[in-house]
Amino acid sequence: MIHHLRAAGVGFILDSRGAAAPVIVHWGRDLGELSEAELTTLADGMIPAVAPSSIDAPLRVSILPTLAEGWSGRPAIGGIHAPVRHLSTLRHTDSLETTNAVGDAVITTLMRMTPEGVLIVSHGIHNAGSAPLDLTEAAVLLPVPDRAREVLDFSGRWAGERVPQRLTPGHGTWLRETRHGRGGHDDPFLMVAGTPGFDFGAGEVWATHVAWSGDKRQWVERAELGASFLGAGERLGMLTLAPGETYDAPAIVAVWSSSGLDGLSDRLHPWVRSWSRIRTVRPITLNTWEAVYFDHSLERLEPLVARAAEVGVERFVLDDGWFHGRTDDRRALGDWTVDRTKWPDGLTPLIDRVHGAGMTFGLWVEPEMVSLDSDLARRHPDWLLTPPDAVTWRWQHALDLSNPDAFAHLLDRLDALLTQYPIAYLKWDHNRDLLVERTRAQTLALYRLLDALRAEHPGVEIESCASGGGRIDLEILRRVDRVWTSDTNDPLVRQRIQRFTGILVPPEYLGSHVGDARAHTTGRVSTLSLRLATALFLHAGIESDLTQLTPQDRDAIGAWIDVHRAHRDLLHSGRVVRADLADDAVLIHGVVSADRREALYSYASLDATDAALPPALVLPGLDDGLRYRVEVIDIGAPAATLQDAPPPWFSGGITVAGSILSEGMLAMPLLLPGNAVVISVRALPVPA
Ligand code: DGJ
Repeated sequence: MIHHLRAAGVGFILDSRGAAAPVIVHWGRDLGELSEAELTTLADGMIPAVAPSSIDAPLRVSILPTLAEGWSGRPAIGGIHAPVRHLSTLRHTDSLETTNAVGDAVITTLMRMTPEGVLIVSHGIHNAGSAPLDLTEAAVLLPVPDRAREVLDFSGRWAGERVPQRLTPGHGTWLRETRHGRGGHDDPFLMVAGTPGFDFGAGEVWATHVAWSGDKRQWVERAELGASFLGAGERLGMLTLAPGETYDAPAIVAVWSSSGLDGLSDRLHPWVRSWSRIRTVRPITLNTWEAVYFDHSLERLEPLVARAAEVGVERFVLDDGWFHGRTDDRRALGDWTVDRTKWPDGLTPLIDRVHGAGMTFGLWVEPEMVSLDSDLARRHPDWLLTPPDAVTWRWQHALDLSNPDAFAHLLDRLDALLTQYPIAYLKWDHNRDLLVERTRAQTLALYRLLDALRAEHPGVEIESCASGGGRIDLEILRRVDRVWTSDTNDPLVRQRIQRFTGILVPPEYLGSHVGDARAHTTGRVSTLSLRLATALFLHAGIESDLTQLTPQDRDAIGAWIDVHRAHRDLLHSGRVVRADLADDAVLIHGVVSADRREALYSYASLDATDAALPPALVLPGLDDGLRYRVEVIDIGAPAATLQDAPPPWFSGGITVAGSILSEGMLAMPLLLPGNAVVISVRALPVPA
């Protein structure tokens, strides 16, 4: 039988005829309604010639290709060497379920197409034999056409996540692997293969993401015969399945688009929003970390609470430093009771003030970790994941969450905190790599812990943070309401981190804070216009000691909050678009409403442009047939320009057709590097 899944312009065809494992005939654009006969003709028409010096039959690469069938590229399943037998393939409404056996392993592969055209593939591998089974790989392989020659994936570092890397690999494998026990700052994140020159707005692209918060492997292989594959899965190391045991592999999220990287977001964002836990508007947040670090006391924080409320903050988050003995980052993780030296009357007096000022209260925790210098480590040294004398990272160890006692203790402590205090939000941090070979049990235990806590306290929101953006993936996103995008609040670095993280993750999940003028992570001084514009579009907040700012800067932040609130619904529900400019000194991105009648864009000058006049204003995503009012809006701080006379339209706005805006014909002033403007676009009423 040949099966055809179709949704939102995407097609997926699986040939499950015969005794061998099924073959993916097509994944890409929707080929239209095809009869059974046409599907058969298509599948037969794709049977390749027998290549010179090769096996003596056409090589059809199946979903589980093996050496036994003549495939000498990277296998999907590693560790088992036996021919594959096709047992069954079932069609459900929007999914296919194929079961195949490789030796003693019975592999059930689910392939589901969401209404948005996102393909989700996962294996369940069952040991049906009577001896243990060693698995070294359990990946999903998806074919991509030969024209998908250019590859994009991501690397990065602390305070510099999601750095794009592009290459055109030749024959062979470009493989990325993480061994951090979390995605890590260099998480490949999305591996994209596309037609040469693909960009945000153009090109045909195929992408995979591993929905998993532990170690992973992603690759693209161009095999000797010319066939190319995207491979993705958990990095297993060596996983031994006992007889009767089943391994449920993480879901591989696969997305195709004919309209570039924005086209990927066009499928991913609505799909994520269809199951997102976010139910309320994203409150403007003040986080105390870069404002006070470990300097906690009611006296120190009370004025900050007052200033926060004055400018319009809606949630006050007490970061690291509140718990027993935590005077710096070298001690006390694990002792999740309130420090009585800093907080003699507990957190209630602070929370009362926060509530009294009309804000909700959030608290930082790092439950998976423990400091050697803590009561917990002294009481339970056996709960550590690595021996006490093993290498530390930020002076801390991880707890072995698969130890039931450690797990129960953590759940109990977190539950006690949430029961004792009216906490609306937990910032859940994870500040080190695990540095162990097997991280699967730890990752699964983390999910169980989050699930159990949420079941007990369904109203509490959780943010996933891992030294910034070291653990952002679509499986953790099912359990949290926000991710901390990066530890850097330097807007110059942030602009790019947010641009690329936002391909996968909708803006309402991505925390972004206005930090101090001199960024704590880079020492670079940046303008308020760039800091405000950079944080405006996401889950916006402040990470600065407002009591130290000038009244003018506080007023500016207040005005910025008003702008954010006025546009928050649009920003957190609309379509995200990014312009492709030849000069990458300027970045343009925006959010457009579903009916394309309203949009907000940012035009940020990050560096000196390569010409005396800057790139014109390109506003993607609008309706060519509508007329729009285009205006620069006051976000609290004006951008500085180099010119005495900006383009005439700039001060009062202009009314033009959407076609002119997408074509990029409006002149812009030459902003000084490190400045940004925000532009509002509204359609005029259509004459009756
Ligand atoms: C790392 C986080 O990413 C920061 O925002 C802050 O919460 C610190 N940890 C606290 O130790």
